Amino acid sequence: MAVTRTFSIIKPDATRRNLTGKINAMLEDAGLRIVAQKRIHMTADQAGKFYEVHKERPFYQDLITFMTSGPVVVQVLEGEDAVKTNRDVMGATNPADAAEGTIRKAFAENIEANSVHGSDSDENAAIEIAFFFSGTEIVG
Ligand code: CMP
Repeated sequence: MAVTRTFSIIKPDATRRNLTGKINAMLEDAGLRIVAQKRIHMTADQAGKFYEVHKERPFYQDLITFMTSGPVVVQVLEGEDAVKTNRDVMGATNPADAAEGTIRKAFAENIEANSVHGSDSDENAAIEIAFFFSGTEIVG
């Protein structure tokens, strides 16, 4: 299995509850290294572009409102099969379906305010990383 990178967001519901450190500890305990990280307040334009694939979904506008409702922490994570490792520790999108020991089981409030985002493929990870980070900001 190769060492790869994925993109992660600690969402506004989690920063509001001061959970950045607890979530980072779960990511690190799962074998991921945080090789880039910054706290930002997304603009509606950024959130709209980032979630453009969901543009036709009924939850799109609410999602943008939520993602711009407070600070987020955007991250690049590195580790063995990073996309899958991260998705495993994140748990299911809907916290009602999330397994014990996952971030969403521990912290998510509902399907929208679900504490973390993680890329769903290596291809999307590369696109999402480049959306928020320049190469010199990633220190492996
Ligand atoms: P995320 O992994 O960031 O990708 C899209 C986000 O849309 C998802 O997490 C949820 O926060 C949000 N969302 C809100 N409603 C839904 C829904 N019904 N199905 C899937 N995602 C939803």
